[in-house]
Amino acid sequence: LQQLLVKNRNEPPLVFHWFPILGSTITYGMDPYGFFFANKQKYGDVFTFILLGKKTTVYLDTHGNNFILNGKLKDVNAEQIYAPLCTPVFGKDVVYDCPNAKLMEQKKFVKFGLTQDALRSYVTLITAEVEDFVKRHKSFKGEKGTFNVPKIMSELTIYTASRSLQGEEVRNSFDSSFAELYHDLDMGFSPINFMLSWAPLPHNRARDNAREKMIELYSAIVKKRRSGAVKKESHDMIWHLMDCKYKDGTPVPDHEIAGIMIALLMAGQHSSSSTISWVLLRLATKPELVEELLAEQKAILGASLPPLTHDNLAKLPLHAQVVKETLRIHAPIHSIMRKVMQPLVIDGTNYVVPTGRTLMSSPGVSAQMDTHFLNPSAWDPHRWDAGEHNFDDSNEDEDRIDYGWGIVSKGTNSPYLPFGAGRHRCIGEQFAYLQLQTILGAFVREFKMRNPGGSKDIVGTDYSSLFSRPLAPAVVEWERRDKK
Ligand code: HEM
Repeated sequence: LQQLLVKNRNEPPLVFHWFPILGSTITYGMDPYGFFFANKQKYGDVFTFILLGKKTTVYLDTHGNNFILNGKLKDVNAEQIYAPLCTPVFGKDVVYDCPNAKLMEQKKFVKFGLTQDALRSYVTLITAEVEDFVKRHKSFKGEKGTFNVPKIMSELTIYTASRSLQGEEVRNSFDSSFAELYHDLDMGFSPINFMLSWAPLPHNRARDNAREKMIELYSAIVKKRRSGAVKKESHDMIWHLMDCKYKDGTPVPDHEIAGIMIALLMAGQHSSSSTISWVLLRLATKPELVEELLAEQKAILGASLPPLTHDNLAKLPLHAQVVKETLRIHAPIHSIMRKVMQPLVIDGTNYVVPTGRTLMSSPGVSAQMDTHFLNPSAWDPHRWDAGEHNFDDSNEDEDRIDYGWGIVSKGTNSPYLPFGAGRHRCIGEQFAYLQLQTILGAFVREFKMRNPGGSKDIVGTDYSSLFSRPLAPAVVEWERRDKK
């Protein structure tokens, strides 16, 4: 039957291009959303384009999101696409260098490590880190000034994430050896590595060397802790992974603990620093919203502004809405890819794609469509006030599936999926929200912010890496609040 179904169908339309190997790589790479919307208009929700010599089939809107992200393991595969880029960065036997069932267990370890106690302790650590950062950073000397948002936020989020999730030893070594290793390792995600991650180029040699050193560093931390020389006084993920066991009873080997920690560092860093940068850049176009956020804190927590805690963050809906709305327009992951494992009829269409084809999903497209959101290009955190647009992919009535690390719905109709869906869905969402809201809350207490000269402009997006981010420099004016 499958064969008959396949036989009577066609391939999706191919996007016109001038050069055979290059195809649409440049137009897509410069502005993926512009590319998706233009071709959606021409060809509909399903079309194929040439990306770095490979045919890549896009399926947009909610049906496409669901078809690709909730695809079955026998139909679609993530590790075959992501491993060449990720394995040289994370190391062996973790994430995409292992069977999917093992990744599901690793995601479970992490998800279960993010306990209420852990999250509670993280808010305190992150707040302390932000306060310390604005005290000592040269961009925040005096009563007013400017700061380059993407640059400062990538520095700050690496400190906040490492202090909380990664633990004290990692945080303390960031001022020395770790920062350079991190930088070299990060070069593993440079755009050229989409094709040449295996090549013996200088940046790949530096990446490989950094990975080995990083694994040694994490392993040394684990060994020292196991020896009893360090007291267990924190809730960081290294402590948690040291106690985890796979279903067959084996504990997580040191090099896997290291690999998982590196993966968390990378996954969390770019997504979070990009998002908080957009949050501040958007707020700087609407300074009145910065004041509204402060007013929310005062009204709900009290005029004396007690320290932010995990429990009182949950009481600040506008803070959450600011993050939520920012992720609608500026989701850091614009394209999610899978490899087709057997000829696949594209659900709801007359199209079929062959084995080996790359499928591409972009939930950011449905999040910016006017069929789902009124005036979608406007950044307006208040659009989430009434709750009517509070799309939720955990609808109680739907068929559910348990991946071990969490129970999610088998299908999703939501046009809003900045954290993905299905077996590869993000497990860092809670941590990300906690970190972003804490930084936001602390900045709002400390500073008034606006665009230079009060302009309403917003910078463009740099799509050249795996994670999109604001084009730097993107400067915002700050003025210290009178804290009498
Ligand atoms: C997966 C987004 C923060 C860890 C994903 C996916 C998305 C995403 C869209 C699905 C990828 C796919 O289907 O191929 C985001 C956003 C974040 C964020 C928007 C912040 C604003 C974090 C943080 C961590 C993290 C802080 C770690 C603490 C992961 C992991 C996966 C994942 C482990 C699973 C990968 C897989 O199963 O293949 N994230 N993420 N993320 N994310 Fe996040």
